[in-house]
Amino acid sequence: MVVGWLRGRPIMEKILIANAIVILIGAIGGTYFTRRLEGQSGVALTLIFLASGLGITILANWLVLRATFRPLVEISRAMESIHKGELHQRVADKSSDPVLRSLSQSFNEMLVRLENESRQYSTRLFDSIEEERRRIGRELHDETSQTLAAVLISLDLAEKALSRCGPPEVVQRVATSKSLISHTIEQLKLLVYDLRPVMLDDFGLVPALRWYIQSHLEGVGPTIVTEFDDEGQRLPGNVETGLYRIAQDTLTNAVRHAQASKVVVRLETKSGFASLAVIDNGVGFDPGEAIYRGNHRGLGLLSVKERVELLDGTLNIESAPGRGTRVYVVIPLAQGRQS
Ligand SMILES: Nc1ncnc2c1ncn2[C@@H]1O[C@H](COP(=O)(O)OP(=O)(O)OP(=O)(O)O)[C@@H](O)[C@H]1O
Ligand SMILES: [Mg+2]
Repeated sequence: MVVGWLRGRPIMEKILIANAIVILIGAIGGTYFTRRLEGQSGVALTLIFLASGLGITILANWLVLRATFRPLVEISRAMESIHKGELHQRVADKSSDPVLRSLSQSFNEMLVRLENESRQYSTRLFDSIEEERRRIGRELHDETSQTLAAVLISLDLAEKALSRCGPPEVVQRVATSKSLISHTIEQLKLLVYDLRPVMLDDFGLVPALRWYIQSHLEGVGPTIVTEFDDEGQRLPGNVETGLYRIAQDTLTNAVRHAQASKVVVRLETKSGFASLAVIDNGVGFDPGEAIYRGNHRGLGLLSVKERVELLDGTLNIESAPGRGTRVYVVIPLAQGRQS
């Protein structure tokens, strides 16, 4: 009962009580032993009392402080994880000390708020990036491409008119300008698709991924093997966008960094989940180190991690130097926003 009552006291009181008990034991024990050991050397007796008094004080304080400050050690560990970007960490707030319990609770509440805010911020950020890509794509397609097409028609007319009586040098210049404009129109088309493939909105994830692989990755390095279980199925808009960007980042990584001869990309949808696996047989790497925010390297894996978290999914990267890499993402479909 006394121990239970003691546990519930604030830190200051615990330390004061522990020290008062030590002094009490010292005073009673000292008086008792002084009486019993009368006649013995005063110096030896003083040394014995001093040593045992110090020993007991240090031990009692150490026991009380160790038990009391354990929650602080937990908070410090949680802070280290949070520093690495693991905002879902929580501290167990079962300390018997009311001050520390309230500290742990406030710390956890702060984490919940931080996690929610970070989530809202990332959602807004990714949404606005997609919206901005759509807007720039539309602008390039509707304005710039149309203007260039009109210029091409004018040049065509000019070429026809000049071909009858114009100086050959001018005719040649007009022909060169025409082919430059045609080339720029083609480049713009690619850029517009790169910004956000229209087929992602119109036909869904699989056609968009096929287009990305064919136009960007085939013939530049490893053989890309696609295993898509359902070509026509549409997923919620945010899941399609998220998985498309995740596949883009992980496939590009496999082609750029892995020195692999083969990369498999697998997309499956079943029992309320969509899963994406990108597997290469390349050099591998240390995912923990690469994804850690503090190393100022790439942003690809970090954004993959954040996208997966926003979709309430799970990300699993299995890799080790020399053993290839397997990135596996599972997204629950019930969570998806239809957008
Ligand atoms: N499949 C892989 N095989 C080998 N190394 C990889 C693979 N994927 C990632 N890495 C390593 O992890 C690092 C971090 O990858 P991440 O995608 O975050 O950044 P990045 O590709 O360097 O730059 P960014 O994606 O921002 O253009 C890479 O620089 C590379 O060293
Ligand atoms: Mg990358």
